Amino acid sequence: MSASSRIHHAALRSKIMSASEAAALIPAGANVGMSGFTGAGYPKVVPKALAERMLAANAAGETFRIGVWTGASTAPELDGALAQVDGVELRLPYQSDPICRQRINAGQMEYIDIHLSHVAQFVWSGFLGKLDVAVVEVAGILEDGRLIPSSSVGNNKTWLDQADKIILEVNRWQNPALEGMHDIYYGTALPPHRKPIPILRPDDRIGDAYYRVDSSRIIGIVETDHPDRNTPFTAPDENSRRIAGHILDFLRHEVRKGRLPANLLPLQSGVGNVANAVMAGLQAGPFENLTAYTEVLQDGMLDLIKAGKLNCASATSFSLSPDALSELYADLGRYKDKIILRPQEISNHPEVIRRLGVIAMNGLIEADLYGNVNSTHINGSAIMNGIGGSGDFARNAFISIFMTPSTAKGGCISCIVPMVSHVDHTEHDVQVIVTEQGLADLRGLSPKQRARQIVEHCAHPDFRPALRDYLRRAEASSPGQHTPHLMEEAFSFLRNWQG
Ligand code: COA
Repeated sequence: MSASSRIHHAALRSKIMSASEAAALIPAGANVGMSGFTGAGYPKVVPKALAERMLAANAAGETFRIGVWTGASTAPELDGALAQVDGVELRLPYQSDPICRQRINAGQMEYIDIHLSHVAQFVWSGFLGKLDVAVVEVAGILEDGRLIPSSSVGNNKTWLDQADKIILEVNRWQNPALEGMHDIYYGTALPPHRKPIPILRPDDRIGDAYYRVDSSRIIGIVETDHPDRNTPFTAPDENSRRIAGHILDFLRHEVRKGRLPANLLPLQSGVGNVANAVMAGLQAGPFENLTAYTEVLQDGMLDLIKAGKLNCASATSFSLSPDALSELYADLGRYKDKIILRPQEISNHPEVIRRLGVIAMNGLIEADLYGNVNSTHINGSAIMNGIGGSGDFARNAFISIFMTPSTAKGGCISCIVPMVSHVDHTEHDVQVIVTEQGLADLRGLSPKQRARQIVEHCAHPDFRPALRDYLRRAEASSPGQHTPHLMEEAFSFLRNWQG
């Protein structure tokens, strides 16, 4: 394949340059919107070249930092490389990189943790300041200048629409058969001009297969052939299998009761190994003709498609292990009518999630007796990753499920605590909590009733006596109180862990 075979727009070929030449066009202090969502579709070479520039600036005693806006988490070549040289002044809306996390928690990087569906409207409204440069990976450029998206969409449409200047990475490694898989919706607007998003089923297509772009704003094009760096999943462990088993039992029960149709409702599954295990569990389960309206397409969902159990999956990104991605790319044409990649403002749109009646399944760090959930912080202060899309889905889902092993750190910490040290999802948005111990269905229960369900079904037996004791004394301390707590002891589990 010749170097320019993915760039079919004659005039744009003159903008081809090296990664360092492109990086030199990004000024210090710029806000840069980069493509990328969970290790897919991020720019592979310009951020690294930028990091080298930052390093040289540091060596010369200068400061060279930028604001980095993305779809969600990316990969070591982007987040890792820039954080390593202390080149990020501010990061949003989500990250999961260890060096980034360390910088954020050391006070060396500002971080704004935002609902993923909110980012586009924040940028359009100017809440985040001006977007100076977009650096977006694409799979090709058409003769008329439209762009073929790559393995994630994320916020790319917004970056391309809003940035003053645009740098494209045209990645020849991305499968050309991606063309036609995307659905880029151009009908969003700011209030008071908003119209309904016309998605009535997960497989509805409402947009274009390409990004539109004003080519006069494209200042550089860099060609690459670097693979996405997705991380492998670990095989489901015993805890994950048990969590998946409880969720499947629950879904079967809901179908028997007539509260869910036989093919369930569109599934959303969060990031991580437990979420992936639930999808694996569904493969062995009785449900057919499933659909997914979700944020990321993980290995387990791909397996469900292959097994003929999942008819279609709408997402904003692939989040596949290297093996699953190779398998998908080897036979991508077969999946064309089953997978749709959309902008994250649409994949995570509250209106659509509510309309479709999504069954949302997300991970948590700790849940409290009354059902409040912390998904983001350790010990109330240190960020882990971010809220990501969990709030977009949980708040608007038909059934909102949160799952976790009952303990962390080798059994030393209970993930069920009297009061969460940080709240991401309030008791009003959490309907079901599942651990390997069991499942607490909190729908229709008062706070005290919820507390009993959570302690008896979800907490680890090692921590149940302490939780029961807390609850008993909290209730005794002020009889009749709606949500009993002992405020001086509410975080005692945290203190025990900290020693
Ligand atoms: N106290 C201290 N540490 C805890 C903890 C607790 N109560 N619960 C979990 N942890 C630690 C684990 O020990 C692990 O640490 P390690 O990486 O040092 O081993 C880490 O948190 C991750 O926990 P793990 O059990 O491996 O769960 P996970 O990979 O499923 O991640 C979340 C769980 C909550 C961190 C993850 O789901 C997340 O980031 N969620 C927010 C975003 C989201 O939900 N996105 C999906 C929307 S589509």
